[in-house]
Amino acid sequence: MSNIIKLPGLIDIHVHLRDPGQTHKEDFFTGTSAALSGGVTTIFDMPNNLEPIFTSEKLMEKINIAKQKAVCDWGLYLGTDGRNTDEFEKIADKVIGLKLYLSLTTGKYVVADDKLVELVFKKWPKSKVLVVHAESDRVDLVIRLATRYQNKLHITHVSTKDGLEKIIDAKKNTKSITCDTTPHYLMLSEEYLREFKGLGIVKPPLATPKDQEYLWQNLNHIDCIASDHAPHTLDEKQSSNPPAGLPGVETMLPLLAEEMSVENIIRLTNINPRKIFGLTQDTKTYVEIDKDEGYKIKNEDLFTKCGWSPFDGWEGTGKVKRVFIRGMKVFEDGKILVNPGFGKNVV
Ligand code: DOR
Ligand code: ZN
Repeated sequence: MSNIIKLPGLIDIHVHLRDPGQTHKEDFFTGTSAALSGGVTTIFDMPNNLEPIFTSEKLMEKINIAKQKAVCDWGLYLGTDGRNTDEFEKIADKVIGLKLYLSLTTGKYVVADDKLVELVFKKWPKSKVLVVHAESDRVDLVIRLATRYQNKLHITHVSTKDGLEKIIDAKKNTKSITCDTTPHYLMLSEEYLREFKGLGIVKPPLATPKDQEYLWQNLNHIDCIASDHAPHTLDEKQSSNPPAGLPGVETMLPLLAEEMSVENIIRLTNINPRKIFGLTQDTKTYVEIDKDEGYKIKNEDLFTKCGWSPFDGWEGTGKVKRVFIRGMKVFEDGKILVNPGFGKNVV
């Protein structure tokens, strides 16, 4: 018996499609194909490319690539090293938001000088979202600055009890602070890292089972779930110097559907992302899943170019049958039905 239900297309506000610069890991066609196969109809792509997206020129180059290759809808983030703040006004309306790195990760674009961090908060337009990668004491810093400058602050991939506690506290006074976590912080802990070594390296690091439990217990304080889809090849992950990051855009929905209500999935992957980033609902953009059809996630079935998942062998549920974007059938029974370039910029 099948049990087909309709969900609004998922919006994944945090992915890394590596295009341009590292298209051996992923590109806009393979990454957005992976998105569709997982019921994700819109992705927001991060700026930590090999050459980071800090300028209008770099942004335009990436917009042109996405326009040619994307099969789902998309938005791009601008990045900052704290030295491009004079360009913010000019570029802000072309991007979905700004991404600021305050803790070390792929690309090493951390802004370490607190004065520059403050300048970023001061100069980034208050109507646009400022997404931060902030761990430990950096969470205190961004909350302080967002309260002072009234930014729309979004703290991404929250992984620990300590981090989420601070955010829950800050939200009591400052309504414009939001956060997300990822399927890997909900489903995996440092035990996975111990077993799978390089494959389990990710920033922020996989945390303790206690942290994991705290995230589940406080799901009502978490605004979104995003994949932080960070493809690196298996060779790279199994090398002596494995890069940080886990692929995840196409496994997010089946993993969540296994563990939480449809209402929660819609809140975390559609309603809140739209509210935070100011997108309207399009009733013609939706996903049909078989709520009861379970299946095994397998590396060989994935669309991502990196070809592996930390959830290889896991049971998922809610098989994605069909995906529609703006009324057009874009995916059915494992096949992409539109040409590269179908996806539109949502900004
Ligand atoms: O582990 C990570 N990898 N965390 C990030 O924040 C970035 C990502 C990447 O770009 O590979
Ligand atoms: Zn990321």
